[in-house]
Amino acid sequence: VTEAEKAAAAADSLDALKAAIEGFEGCPLKSSSENTVVFDGTQGADLMVIGEGPGAEEDRKGLPFIGKAGQLLDKMLAAINRSRTENTFITNVTYWRPPGNRNPEDEELDVCRPFVERMIVLGKPKLIIAAGGVPAKALLGKSDGIMRLRGTEHVFQTQDGTSIPLIPILHPAYLLRRPQDKSRAWRDLLLVEQRLKELA
Ligand code: URA
Repeated sequence: VTEAEKAAAAADSLDALKAAIEGFEGCPLKSSSENTVVFDGTQGADLMVIGEGPGAEEDRKGLPFIGKAGQLLDKMLAAINRSRTENTFITNVTYWRPPGNRNPEDEELDVCRPFVERMIVLGKPKLIIAAGGVPAKALLGKSDGIMRLRGTEHVFQTQDGTSIPLIPILHPAYLLRRPQDKSRAWRDLLLVEQRLKELA
């Protein structure tokens, strides 16, 4: 049993889990980060958005998805009547900023995995959005890229046997660079909206 597994298992609420992650020293990314960025939004919401990891702005303020990409994410969620203040929970598959915003490495993701699983178990979402290829691949244990994974529903399985529907979407930072892919993003959001209705 790893330190992270022990710490995650001992947390019996999302706030306790946040404190456990903030106190965790086992991720190499921590030493180069200003803050630990755990979650934002509505605890117990039926929708959980899981991104890749904090960027510069998030690292400075200690909150996920508050930079340019985060502002676009908020707009995308608003289009399906979702907001972090009312009905959506937001977190990432890593809690520390990778230097220069490089992708987190597998080893860094593996270290955080017990916390991510515990977050999902304690948060009890009915549906998970994986925002971008990194969280989609990490959560599903697949090597396919986001263009293959998006457009359809997958299932996230925790070690304790919980399974939750998961829909991968294009990352808002990607959409800022490629606005021509907006129609794909829109289709993904409509799928999310439809599934949330069915799961309610
Ligand atoms: N991008 C992410 O994937 N997560 C954040 O929290 C911010 C930007």
